[in-house]
Amino acid sequence: MSNGSPTGRRPIGVRIAGTGSALPQRRLTNADLEKMMETSDEWIVQRTGIRERRIIDRSKGESTSQLAAEALQGALADARLNATDLDLIIIATMTAEMSCPASASLVANMVGAGTCGAFDLTAACSGFVYGLNVAHDLIKGGAYRTIGLVGADALSTLMDYSNNGRSTSIIFGDAAGAAIIKATDDTSKGLLAQAMHSDGRGWKEIYVPRCAEDFPPGIAADDAKYNHVQMNGASVFKFAVGTFPELIQQTLDSAKVAASEVDMYVCHQSNQRILTAARERFGLAEDKLYVNIDRFGNTVGASVPLCLDELRKSGRIRDGHKVMFVAFGGGLTWGSSLWQL
Ligand code: UT7
Repeated sequence: MSNGSPTGRRPIGVRIAGTGSALPQRRLTNADLEKMMETSDEWIVQRTGIRERRIIDRSKGESTSQLAAEALQGALADARLNATDLDLIIIATMTAEMSCPASASLVANMVGAGTCGAFDLTAACSGFVYGLNVAHDLIKGGAYRTIGLVGADALSTLMDYSNNGRSTSIIFGDAAGAAIIKATDDTSKGLLAQAMHSDGRGWKEIYVPRCAEDFPPGIAADDAKYNHVQMNGASVFKFAVGTFPELIQQTLDSAKVAASEVDMYVCHQSNQRILTAARERFGLAEDKLYVNIDRFGNTVGASVPLCLDELRKSGRIRDGHKVMFVAFGGGLTWGSSLWQL
């Protein structure tokens, strides 16, 4: 374990050594939602591309931390490492069970990671991409060699599955995805460019009120909305369609890489129409921008690592590839991470 003992100034590379993911058992299909609120499979598929999502059942032991621990264990096994090899655990989540302890502390205990560092990172849907940049640079700085990074969320715990919540509850699903970020002697591997942005003026586009004082000016406080995601869908949609291509272009420019040189774009699964707009803007072939939103919905912090795990396991992302990770979400936040694997 190298935590707290810098490896000196010898240049090091950073690689993604393993990935894993976890899903709740219960499937919530569009047909199920039709029975809970006034909506239709046709409306949901047309507006979002989503056909089903998974949601947790806490009475069966499922939770954000449980999913995160399962995903991390999968990633450790994939990297052929033990939990005690980890120097640090970072969990990107907005749905930790408690505000204290951090989900990362619970996960460290569940996987048996001993006394390694553990903290949560909150940047909504951008959390995992922010985490990739943070973990990379902590390793590059020399003080850490092996970091378990997880994106895990259970937005079902913040949904109103009635007519009042139909514009948000149809979108979100629960999941976790994990990656082991590790030092390597191969200095060609690691980040080619990164970006992390936020515009707090847009906080009221997606928020979760807990009390009357949390509502934005001009919006009447309503206790029926407490602990339920409030989202201005049309406004977030517009923000995303503009931001995604701009962010991708800026990241390509700063790495001096052409769009066509990137082997795979792993983008936050927010809405099929937003993904299609970004792909068309760069004239990318359909198989270069991965989509799994039809099966899992928008899983917030888990969305990007869930795609990453599927792509690695199917061999569509491998050593030597250039991969662009992009996400945007509540905050508002947005970020990118362009890797040479
Ligand atoms: O990752 C976090 C970031 N979040 C996002 O990326 C979300 C981005 N936004 C979106 O994906 C879309 O805005 C939504 C899918 C949320 C909504 O689609 P939209 O095309 O923007 O619909 P809308 O909210 O403008 O609503 C259009 C109509 C309304 O009816 P009226 O007022 O035109 O009569 C809604 O009441 O659709 C109605 N509607 C629904 N109808 C059937 C809203 N939700 C539903 C529903 N089923 N579930």
